[in-house]
Amino acid sequence: MKRVTLGSTGETVSEMCLGTQMYGDRCDEAESDRILSTAMDAGVDFIDTAALYVDGRTEEILGRLLKRRRDKVFLLSKVRIGRIGVLESIEQSLRRLQTDHLDLYLIHAPMPGMDPHQIMHDLNRLVREGKTRYVGCSNYPAWLVSHSNCIAEREGWAQLVCNQIPYSLIERGVEVEILPQSYAENIATMAYRPLAMGVLSGKYVPSQQPPQDSRAVADARIPRWLNRYSTQISAFLKMADTVGVTPVALALGWVRACPAITSPVVGASSLQQLESHLKAFEFSLTHEQYTQLNEIFAATEPWEEVSVADFRDWRRNLGLVKR
Ligand SMILES: NC(=O)c1ccc[n+]([C@@H]2O[C@H](COP(=O)([O-])OP(=O)(O)OC[C@H]3O[C@@H](n4cnc5c(N)ncnc54)[C@H](OP(=O)(O)O)[C@@H]3O)[C@@H](O)[C@H]2O)c1
Repeated sequence: MKRVTLGSTGETVSEMCLGTQMYGDRCDEAESDRILSTAMDAGVDFIDTAALYVDGRTEEILGRLLKRRRDKVFLLSKVRIGRIGVLESIEQSLRRLQTDHLDLYLIHAPMPGMDPHQIMHDLNRLVREGKTRYVGCSNYPAWLVSHSNCIAEREGWAQLVCNQIPYSLIERGVEVEILPQSYAENIATMAYRPLAMGVLSGKYVPSQQPPQDSRAVADARIPRWLNRYSTQISAFLKMADTVGVTPVALALGWVRACPAITSPVVGASSLQQLESHLKAFEFSLTHEQYTQLNEIFAATEPWEEVSVADFRDWRRNLGLVKR
């Protein structure tokens, strides 16, 4: 497993960041353990979780699984602002994760009415108190990363070192602002949902019913994307066949080929899926294959997570700044 540098921190982490959202959801604790152990044996040490996942149960499971190997991983968690404060939320996460500090702590998503100055103040306090080594954000539009870091620079506080955003052949909205900003400012950028929740894994065939045991049953975006991009997905599956690699390798290879991306955050709900991810990291796209994929998926989803529609609305944008 390749090592990459985490933006301006100078720290190195595994190129693959292991997503744990399915721990306690689609995979039980024993399978979660097998996934984590196999990933770590293969050199993965970058682990992503969040207070929000399964109402804290994911962090609890991870806490038990990491007990004797906490020092072997670079552990990241996130706070959903609004429900409780940043200072209180990290205490709960640390308790559930059975550790005295995180390596990286992210604001999970921006919220209308949030106060960026207060948030940067609180994040800085966490760094000062040793509760986390670095701080960052997720789902922030580019302007908010710059705005927050300007405040931090002015006040002499810890800056946001990363932005975690959705990025795949299906969701390419971040290419307009986020990726150029990250690249220019050396902000580490983690691409979550790189397989579009499985749409690009090969488990779905356009025009066929999704498997009953898949996430398509619970998440309406999957059938919608399968329907909207059936032509592109069919061409993509055919290309994987021609190249002689799995669809997972092709989809991850495309995300990894972008110079603005530090790490894809990959989800697995079984050991078998994790094994296919590890194999995928051995494959690199040629320039021609990268170009071909760009052409197949030329027009895809806007940025849904923070709803581009919301952010196009000046009221939503202004709602994130207190003056
Ligand atoms: N910051 C944020 O706001 C945010 C938001 C979402 C996610 N995340 C992070 O990103 C991680 C990844 O997100 P994600 O799980 O939604 O996206 P993903 O990696 O694009 O999709 C993972 C899903 O793809 C399917 N899959 C994967 N490998 C497969 C294989 N070899 N064969 C068949 N199916 C396969 C599985 O679906 P089935 O379970 O249906 O089999 C799996 O759950 C999460 O775990 C979380 O840590 C962060």
